[in-house]
Amino acid sequence: MALRDEIALGGRLALVWGGVWGIAAAGDPLARVVAPPWRADPYAQYRRLSGAQRSRTGAVTVASHALVSQVLRDRRLGVRTADGSEPAPFARSPLPAEHLVTHTFLEEDPPNHTRLRGLARPAFGPKQIAGYRESVEKTTHRLLDDALAKPVFDLVADFASPLPIAVISDLLGVPDVDADTFLRYGRVLGASLDGIKSVRHARDLRDATGELQKLFLRLIEERTADPGPDVISTLVEALGRGELTEQELLSTCELLLIAGFETTSNLIGNAVHTFAAHPDQWAALRADPSLAPAAVDEVLRYESPVQMTQRLPHEDVEIGGVKARAGTLVACLLGAANRDPEVFTDPDRFDISRPDSGDHLSFSSGIHYCLGAPLARLEGEVALTALAERLPELKPVGRARWRKTVVIRGLTRYRLAR
Ligand code: HEM
Repeated sequence: MALRDEIALGGRLALVWGGVWGIAAAGDPLARVVAPPWRADPYAQYRRLSGAQRSRTGAVTVASHALVSQVLRDRRLGVRTADGSEPAPFARSPLPAEHLVTHTFLEEDPPNHTRLRGLARPAFGPKQIAGYRESVEKTTHRLLDDALAKPVFDLVADFASPLPIAVISDLLGVPDVDADTFLRYGRVLGASLDGIKSVRHARDLRDATGELQKLFLRLIEERTADPGPDVISTLVEALGRGELTEQELLSTCELLLIAGFETTSNLIGNAVHTFAAHPDQWAALRADPSLAPAAVDEVLRYESPVQMTQRLPHEDVEIGGVKARAGTLVACLLGAANRDPEVFTDPDRFDISRPDSGDHLSFSSGIHYCLGAPLARLEGEVALTALAERLPELKPVGRARWRKTVVIRGLTRYRLAR
């Protein structure tokens, strides 16, 4: 990007984010979900929201479980404008056209969404994923052997991130993974779900997507010559049959890789952080490891790694009595819906024996329901079972460091003593 473009971009971003901060300072609940310092405690902001309401940012905010679920399943709303020309605002790139990041099927409406998701789906079915258990267990114990050899380890860098990075890379067929580099790409791309924050962020995003494209272009070439049993090979075959373009293949690989570890890493980090604050629940899990699947769901409900998503009405609609014109940003607060007292009794209590914790919306709903949910659940369950067995007491050293992002909620650093 030329210096002149960077200065112009910096000015535009300062104006946009300064405006949001001003609206937040005046008390607007949605603006306070996204602006500092209020965003540090999203749950305090959610308590001020219920049902659907209009925000002074121009968006409509949806916070109740019933309405979030309804919006996500309503086919009159999509993730692009009705004519398909523009993605929803957070996904709009402020970068000049030559640096445009391609969009993935998470940012596509039917029929493109249906076609691309259909090509990736077979690899992520519950049966296929169940076949991965043994390999996930092996990787989990190998990483814990190394982490627990240290008197103090960083849960995020030593375990919660490298585990899902290794698992998804293996599934996709990405060899010789450098977990630290992927972690850096993941942070930059994950943060972009909040919208671009600064010129530096725009630059980092361009570099990370450029590097990932280079990597996947090389792998596509290799798998075209020598296919294997991995997801990239399957997609390369579909490319050969003309079922997707090379650009779509690249963005699908990027989505599967990044969505495959960014969120799961935060699931594991958020789980351990929450259990450390609730030692009675940790003791309950240790006493009965068969509670691990329920514990994963309760963590997903209580401290969701994805707090928010967005939709655009393709026609004028009414949501819980609030009119939303075609093209209005509808912010769906998954994290608020998961603490809706109409659905979850005493919602701010973390309780792994809760009978209905699986009713959370952390994997979204409708046609974009998380493709990797069975894999995320498997990794979460294996990780928690192994930790409960090998780390009977959770002993944090210093304070956990949280990411500054809004859509993605998770830790950057969390040190624990063995
Ligand atoms: C705890 C871990 C995870 C959480 C909380 C999570 C959450 C989500 C959410 C909320 C969405 C939908 C967003 C929307 O409706 O706008 C989504 C979509 C998606 N997720 Fe996950 N995810 C997780 C793990 C994974 C894993 C392991 C994969 C593996 C590749 C994955 C792949 C995807 C894909 C491909 C989509 C796009 C689906 C579509 O647009 O049809 N996710 N995820």
